[in-house]
Amino acid sequence: MLKGEKVGLRARHEDDIPVLRAELYDDVVNASRAEGGPWRPITPGFKDPRLVVDDTKEASVPFSVVELAGGTLVGTATLWGIDPHNRCAHIGLGLLPSSRGKGYGTDVVAVLCHYGFVVRGLQRLQIETLADNTAMLRSAERNGFVREGVLRSSAWVMGEFLDEVLLGLLAQEYQEGKRA
Ligand SMILES: CC(C)(COP(=O)(O)OP(=O)(O)OC[C@H]1O[C@@H](n2cnc3c(N)ncnc32)[C@H](O)[C@@H]1OP(=O)(O)O)[C@@H](O)C(=O)NCCC(=O)NCCS
Repeated sequence: MLKGEKVGLRARHEDDIPVLRAELYDDVVNASRAEGGPWRPITPGFKDPRLVVDDTKEASVPFSVVELAGGTLVGTATLWGIDPHNRCAHIGLGLLPSSRGKGYGTDVVAVLCHYGFVVRGLQRLQIETLADNTAMLRSAERNGFVREGVLRSSAWVMGEFLDEVLLGLLAQEYQEGKRA
């Protein structure tokens, strides 16, 4: 397990799946804001690739996020789009509604940075998030991510086009354990 100050990132367990499905993916608004595609219902028993991990897929590393104190599941975190030639990847995360606003998101970003830069030797990490997602923007910026641009009207979300913000962090800027 990878450990931050408050959370741990571990492999996906079978019994995480119904919780994540019910609390993150069955929620139309949350899924529409976080997924970059249209929400649709998931048929029971379908091996949804967002939930059921295929360890042979090297471009993506999905984690389940747990509280260090007690081990309760609190969300998901992923290093995705891993490009071994350009040594870059994207990060993404989603916390269960009851676990938001407690500093876990900031901690998850820190652990994903440790995994990306230290464990995987990457040169660049990137995040795309909706421009109104203050909690995600703050979680990234607290860990040193810099706003690199705005993708105007790039996301269709629940009836309107929204802007996305692109943030990046380079290995030479990364300072382990340091938060703004
Ligand atoms: C985005 C998300 C991962 C952030 O994690 P979090 O644990 O809620 O965030 P934190 O508690 O670490 O807070 C980070 C900062 O955002 C602020 N913040 C938290 N929730 C906020 C909210 N609802 N509105 C405004 N600011 C908020 C905090 O005060 C903190 O600011 P500070 O660093 O200046 O003190 C989490 O809220 C989440 O899973 N949201 C739904 C899914 C999602 O949006 N995923 C990202 C898709 S790109």
